[in-house]
Amino acid sequence: MAKSINGFSKLPKTEKIDWLVENFCEGSPEAEKVLKQYWNADAKLQQLHDEFIENTISNFYLPLGLAPNFLINEEYLTLPMVIEESSVVAAASKAAKFWSERGGFKARVISTEKIGQVHFKYSGDRIELEKTIEQLKPKMLEAAKPITQNMEKRGGGILSIDLVDKTKELKEYFQLFVTFDTRDSMGANFINSCLEKFAEVLETNLPKEQLTVIMSILSNYVPECLVYAEVSCKVDDLGGDSHLSGEEFAEKFVQAVNIAEVEPYRAVTHNKGVMNGIDAVVLATGNDFRAVEAGVHAFASKDGRYTSLTHAEIKNGIFRFWIEIPLALGTVGGLTSLHPLVKLALDILQRPNALELMKIAAVAGLAQNFAALRSLITTGIQQGHMKMHLMNILNQHQATKEEKKKMVDFFTHHTITHSSVIEQLEKLRANEL
Ligand code: HMG
Repeated sequence: MAKSINGFSKLPKTEKIDWLVENFCEGSPEAEKVLKQYWNADAKLQQLHDEFIENTISNFYLPLGLAPNFLINEEYLTLPMVIEESSVVAAASKAAKFWSERGGFKARVISTEKIGQVHFKYSGDRIELEKTIEQLKPKMLEAAKPITQNMEKRGGGILSIDLVDKTKELKEYFQLFVTFDTRDSMGANFINSCLEKFAEVLETNLPKEQLTVIMSILSNYVPECLVYAEVSCKVDDLGGDSHLSGEEFAEKFVQAVNIAEVEPYRAVTHNKGVMNGIDAVVLATGNDFRAVEAGVHAFASKDGRYTSLTHAEIKNGIFRFWIEIPLALGTVGGLTSLHPLVKLALDILQRPNALELMKIAAVAGLAQNFAALRSLITTGIQQGHMKMHLMNILNQHQATKEEKKKMVDFFTHHTITHSSVIEQLEKLRANEL
């Protein structure tokens, strides 16, 4: 039985591992070996990673891949992508190449507003509260000055402070609804620090017996931090690479998107495909993928039903496919200057500012969705996915380099399924191939 433990956080890393191995791995030296195998030989680099989080015992690698040929607003970019799933990088690359031959991606930022709230309970008179908050605004801005002054120099800062009456939904519940421009930072720390200052001002200026500040925190729902990306081409230019004509392809594609627009079960999977691309870029650039995911899915349900993040149409012989999505991303702060691979990823992207990164991530999502839908409406998803997954199956079965080569040759002309790969590998090992 695993023991509970007090003071685990105070133990050195090696003792944390000893505790783990003893309590959860039946004392197996193999577990310790695996953990240490992933330590970096450079002690300084390892320490840097140890200190990103708490109670670190090892590193958990994810592959960093490159998707080249993204023509975005007339400029070629190569996208760094961090993801565990095979076929995502290949799909992005294939979509990038396809659209680079048809004018590329066009992207623009629509808005950049971030949001934070001070949630509080107030039992006094609402009109009085409104007046007091109006009077307190200069004090709040003053209190936050030490935090905002540098952001203001960069052109950002606090945009608005509003009192919101939520008492119809929850007794005595009000909030300060605050909007921010955080320039190139994602802004979480900046926003939360400002909000905590505002809460202090409320606490020192409103009667204690009438006010309870519940919490001060940013919102990861950022429907006014929006980016748009699209591709378009003549319907005739879509044919050629499957058994479908350009027109058949475009119509089937639009129908597939329409289904995701009206059918939530399909929309979730459709949007998962979009997020394959976005998350991979978000991770590679050291951004907070949980924040992005939460905000994006809330946006997908903003009209009361979960729906597709992408849209498509055919008008006057032109096929157009687009995405409009909220993305609060940063290119300064957080891991961006700490993680050596994040720095490199931003270099690969030509040192984008936050607005440029929003466009790149939106394009990655659109490209990924295009690739998945193209497979779904032509060959089916499994053909390409399994082609990319072949190496994983072979690795699971400890295939040698020579075996891998023979299997890849064989499956160039045969359908890949998990069982067919194992069957062929067994035949190969029994010298039957
Ligand atoms: P293919 O036509 O067999 O590829 O496609 P190809 O060998 O003819 O190569 C064409 C291009 O594809 C290459 O050009 C690359 O750009 C790329 P080149 O580099 O030769 O000039 N490509 C690769 N890039 C890197 N490594 C590779 C590689 N192979 C091709 N090994 C492909 C194969 C997998 C690209 C295609 O079938 C595809 O796009 N499939 C979709 C895969 C996909 O969407 N995967 C995501 C996981 S499934 C999922 O989670 C989402 C889903 O449920 C969402 C939804 O339901 O909407 C599907």
